[in-house]
Amino acid sequence: MDLFEHQAKELFAEHGVPVPAGKIATTPEEARAIATGFAAAGTSRVVVKAQVKAGGRGKAGGVKVADSPEETEERARQILGMDIKGHTVHKVLVEEASAIAQEYYFSFLLDRANRTFLAICSAEGGMEIEEVAAANPDAVAQVPVSALTGVNRDKARGIVTAAGLPEAAKEGAARLVERLWAVFVSEDATLVEVNPLILTARGQVKALDGKVTLDGNAGFRRPGHAALEDEASADPLEARAREKNLNYVKLDGSVGVIGNGAGLVMSTLDVVAYAGEEFGGQKPANFLDIGGGASAEVMANGMEIVLGDPAVKSVFINVFGGITSGDAVANGIVQAVKLLGERGETVDRPIVVRLDGNNAEEGRRILDEAAIPVIEQVETMDEAARRAAELASAGV
Ligand SMILES: Nc1ncnc2c1ncn2[C@@H]1O[C@H](COP(=O)(O)OP(=O)(O)O)[C@@H](O)[C@H]1O
Ligand SMILES: [Mg+2]
Repeated sequence: MDLFEHQAKELFAEHGVPVPAGKIATTPEEARAIATGFAAAGTSRVVVKAQVKAGGRGKAGGVKVADSPEETEERARQILGMDIKGHTVHKVLVEEASAIAQEYYFSFLLDRANRTFLAICSAEGGMEIEEVAAANPDAVAQVPVSALTGVNRDKARGIVTAAGLPEAAKEGAARLVERLWAVFVSEDATLVEVNPLILTARGQVKALDGKVTLDGNAGFRRPGHAALEDEASADPLEARAREKNLNYVKLDGSVGVIGNGAGLVMSTLDVVAYAGEEFGGQKPANFLDIGGGASAEVMANGMEIVLGDPAVKSVFINVFGGITSGDAVANGIVQAVKLLGERGETVDRPIVVRLDGNNAEEGRRILDEAAIPVIEQVETMDEAARRAAELASAGV
């Protein structure tokens, strides 16, 4: 799960990483009120920052300085609603402007290839680190961090020294890096990135930007992350799916996909995308794994989520009977359609079902007998994907 900048900075602050004071606004008027508060406390210059999960907001015009509450309102009006790399801006962070003397780069990440953690640091910050690394690889220090010994002040000093940070920034940066390691470990992050890390005109070192990826698998031992996740969730359907304990990921195509088992669903996405090429580039609209025990209720919840997406023009249910046999799945689908009817949701788009595996024959018979007009059965995965893509293209 990726966090918004303001969420990352809230975590930073909790762990003692210095960040500029700031607050979130969803309207220009709110932004003005926040700036008025800062002005009353003696800070008249603020920065209005688009909160979207994309880098390069500054370049895209999503980060703007304002010198008064009126100007803050105006800047917020310009930024709210803006599209940055396909993300619509729904909120802005209004924070005190820092007097920047220098900008650096810092990150901790999980280095999967080398089975270790890695600190990356550079005295050339602010711009994309990939560009710095390409143009001047020596300017980017990469220091492995052992999971067993972690990062204490000495190790942190070693990292910022390797990056060639100037004397004036070293001690402050080392302290900040040590605190960031606390964020990384105690929040179960797989990435903590600060770009830029700055030295202010007054000699303080601060995190001016923040990007954090939390490890979703650690959610069970980080109860606080659920709230972050709800807020961070870009897609309301994903949030609803999570409430229902479904593994759902929204994609941008037109064929809804439901399957049992992550591997099967992944390959279904491939097959649908491949078959869709023939029908004007129809693509999967989502990933949804309903897992092994596909009860009627789970199936109904899954169908409700998938059909809740207006971009879905057809649905492909691809089930391989295993522990849950084909007849149970078929009964699940039939009951799911009924259940949805009772919930007041009409199943109004075509559904292609491919049932195979344990007791598939009986399952197919049950579906045939139920004779639900929107449901059609196709025997093979490839043919079913093709049919679903064809129906989607007819429905667009
Ligand atoms: N609080 C701030 N005070 C002064 N300048 C800022 C502040 N926040 C951001 N900036 C400037 O804007 C640039 C871009 O902001 P940043 O948060 O890094 O967004 P992005 O990386 O998405 O472009 C920074 O490199 C910095 O120069
Ligand atoms: Mg940045």
